[in-house]
Amino acid sequence: MTAPSDPGVDARLQTLTLTQPDDWHLHLRDGAALQAVLPFTARQFGRAIVMPNLRPPVTTAAQAVAYRQRILAALASSEQDGRQLPFEPLMTLYLTDNTAPDEVKRAREAGVVAFKLYPAGATTNSDAGVTDLLGRCRATLEGMQREGMLLLVHGEVTDAEIDLFDREAVFIDRVMRPLRRDYPALKVVFEHITTRDAAQYVAQAGPQTAATITAHHLLYNRNAIFTGGLRPHYYCLPVLKREVHRLALVEAATSGSPKFFLGTDSAPHATALKEQSVCGAGCFTAPAALELYAEAFEAAGALHLLEGFASHHGADFYGLPRNRSSVTLQREPWTVPEQLPFGDATIKPLRAGETLRWKLQP
Ligand code: NCD
Ligand code: ZN
Repeated sequence: MTAPSDPGVDARLQTLTLTQPDDWHLHLRDGAALQAVLPFTARQFGRAIVMPNLRPPVTTAAQAVAYRQRILAALASSEQDGRQLPFEPLMTLYLTDNTAPDEVKRAREAGVVAFKLYPAGATTNSDAGVTDLLGRCRATLEGMQREGMLLLVHGEVTDAEIDLFDREAVFIDRVMRPLRRDYPALKVVFEHITTRDAAQYVAQAGPQTAATITAHHLLYNRNAIFTGGLRPHYYCLPVLKREVHRLALVEAATSGSPKFFLGTDSAPHATALKEQSVCGAGCFTAPAALELYAEAFEAAGALHLLEGFASHHGADFYGLPRNRSSVTLQREPWTVPEQLPFGDATIKPLRAGETLRWKLQP
């Protein structure tokens, strides 16, 4: 991790009050899992972009409306201190080779804000994803550009012959550049970027291109997956990269550029599924999301830039109003729980059992 440029300044700071942040990339799952994880997000964030990679995926406006209702019902039944948390789920549709161009208009009318591109086979529940974006989805992309619908991109090629650690960089040349050339007015979010290549690409792209960055990609490089043994809870997709890439992500997130904003990619999987011979991809960061970002920004001597990244840039890019309420972080050590209930199972949050130095105030 980099040393704070002026540790004295940050160490004196005891509280940090921010406009309430939003999470621009989140997996909430469904059913009992949804019920278990939603309160962690709702107590921190005003809104979240909800990923549509359920089984089966959320591919139609009608399915998104129904999923939104299930999220709101889960929220209502998880009141805290007798009050319902004022959280707004922002819905997305899962793009497939067969998404009907008409679905874009229906989605916009239903309040859906974006489509999510999963290259087929790239990650958890992506089998129904797109096999050839610029070959099969042109009419839908035109509709999205026309209707002002955003495209959120899981930016990795899936070819077996491309090294796993190079898949994001190759995606930029094979998909992002042609996509930007052919649909210059489409707003595109390069989700959970993990490489210097992607950070540089987004920084130099036009104003219609932005990126989310996770807390774990700001805090860890790929050594975290292998420290003292194989550590499944640090395995996510796109996978953690070398230190040079982590440093580039920290630089982008703390640059003050409105093109970079918070997206946790909190992706809950039951402990039993993570701790087995084939482990699912995803880090469950929701219970300490804002605290983890604060730690990363503080280490870079950039706590004063956290608010823009967490609370302003995303809303501005999506064309939504910034939140009016605020949240406060306090310098107060606390220990992340070892396990949390997850329906009939349990789940381990990232940093389980470890002490964090910032704590969100209730
Ligand atoms: C996500 C999941 O579990 O749904 N996993 C992950 O590692 N991030 C899928 C994704 O966003 O790639
Ligand atoms: Zn994700």
